[in-house]
Amino acid sequence: MATPTVAYPPRPVIDRASLPPGPPELPVVGQSFRYIRDTLGLMQETAGYGDLATLSVKPALAYLVSHPELVQELFVTNHQSVGRGWLTATMRYLLGNGLVTSDGPLHLRQRRLMQPQFNHRRIGGYAEIMTDFARRHEGRWQDGARVDMANEMSELTLHIVVKTLFGLDLPDAVRRIGEAFELGNEYITARSNMPSPLRNALHRLPVPFTTRFRNGLAYLDETVYGLIAQRRESGLEGDDLLSLLLNVRDEEADNPEDAVMTDEQLRDEVITLFAAGHETTAVAMTWTWYLLGTHPDVQARFHAEIDDVLGQRDPTPDDLANLPFTQQVLTESMRLYPPIWSTGRMTFKPITLGGWEIPAGAVVSAPQMIVHRDPRWFDEPLEFRPDRWTPEFRAGLHRFAYYPFGGGPRLCIGEGFAWMEAMLLLATLGQRWSMRHDSRREVRLQPLVSLRPRGGMPIFLERRG
Ligand code: HEM
Repeated sequence: MATPTVAYPPRPVIDRASLPPGPPELPVVGQSFRYIRDTLGLMQETAGYGDLATLSVKPALAYLVSHPELVQELFVTNHQSVGRGWLTATMRYLLGNGLVTSDGPLHLRQRRLMQPQFNHRRIGGYAEIMTDFARRHEGRWQDGARVDMANEMSELTLHIVVKTLFGLDLPDAVRRIGEAFELGNEYITARSNMPSPLRNALHRLPVPFTTRFRNGLAYLDETVYGLIAQRRESGLEGDDLLSLLLNVRDEEADNPEDAVMTDEQLRDEVITLFAAGHETTAVAMTWTWYLLGTHPDVQARFHAEIDDVLGQRDPTPDDLANLPFTQQVLTESMRLYPPIWSTGRMTFKPITLGGWEIPAGAVVSAPQMIVHRDPRWFDEPLEFRPDRWTPEFRAGLHRFAYYPFGGGPRLCIGEGFAWMEAMLLLATLGQRWSMRHDSRREVRLQPLVSLRPRGGMPIFLERRG
């Protein structure tokens, strides 16, 4: 597997008195246990100390920024001095060195090569796959049934991502790929909360969890390398993202053999796209159905809009601009429940944020979950109010008061893909179904890499008209 692309600076030596304020810490372990037990509570409390606060001193120096101006300084002004670093060390077990986990020149090159594959025209080509799978999926739904919407959306977006990335539509392969990723997610989450020496040791030993993870990884590798070999041999140009990436040429490469991606790089990129694009969209859809299912008046307006624009026909990308209320619903849903609830950077060089000196080797978190719910930018921030998203409100809002897709040079490459997919799925499923949340079950948050509902999302399905 590929190695990190930049050398990380050593952990900084800390003079506590020179740090911004933050909550008190326990000796030796600092905030580690609280972070695992009550991540969001700790972040909320830390933000109460100021727009730039010290989140933790031990075992690593970590800051929290919660003001849009500081988020911009971190993501944009200082982008050349920060990166992912060891923040994504555990993710590399699964993703290798794709766009999410790479830094420096490798990331720059890959981003330059991959960006054109995400342009409007290319993405539009996947619309039919999305509506088609949505129709197939709802074909199994029963009127009055109670489903776990988190599962439903995960399964639906899994089929879509496997088809758009790999051109595969075989139920058995899709299921096995989904299982391997789910296990990979669990493994990364469990391992990332460990001190690195213990984590590295467990990753090398044949303990049952590691062995299961490695078996799943072997299946993924075998599938992806097999598909790459097939495509290279046949020379056929498919429409799936893997085929497109396989045919990308780097016009700036010094040697012809460096102009194409190696098989290993291709593998890392498609596995990364899969991981970054599947779960996030499923989570966004789940929270949106939950919010619609708890706000019947909003759901009625959403239905009226799609009925008016589409009637009974399938939506296309051209329809999306005519569904402004649906777009407001989705925007507001990702404000309250940002699928990636916090985005962070590691400092490779010292930087200045809000007048404070941040040393190299520190972590700076910029949690969407806190900024998106700040009453300074959003009136009644805990209320679900799609109507707040008027063009005037948007125009007056700081670019980094709302950033579900991050920002700066590392802005989510799949933003356009995700918007189109989520809007098409909302419109397609909303044409025939009404959602009602099972209010007997309290909704709780599970902030893993993405913001899942803990224990699933019980929703009653009601067939419309
Ligand atoms: C609702 C769905 C999605 C949300 C909320 C989301 C959010 C994000 C966020 C917050 C980041 C980090 C940005 C930063 O560090 O500034 C990111 C990065 C990324 N996302 Fe997404 N994403 C979504 C869907 C997708 C899809 C569908 C794909 C691919 C098909 C994708 C691929 C990526 C990749 C490759 C990166 C890393 C970009 C880089 O570092 O250059 N995402 N996403």
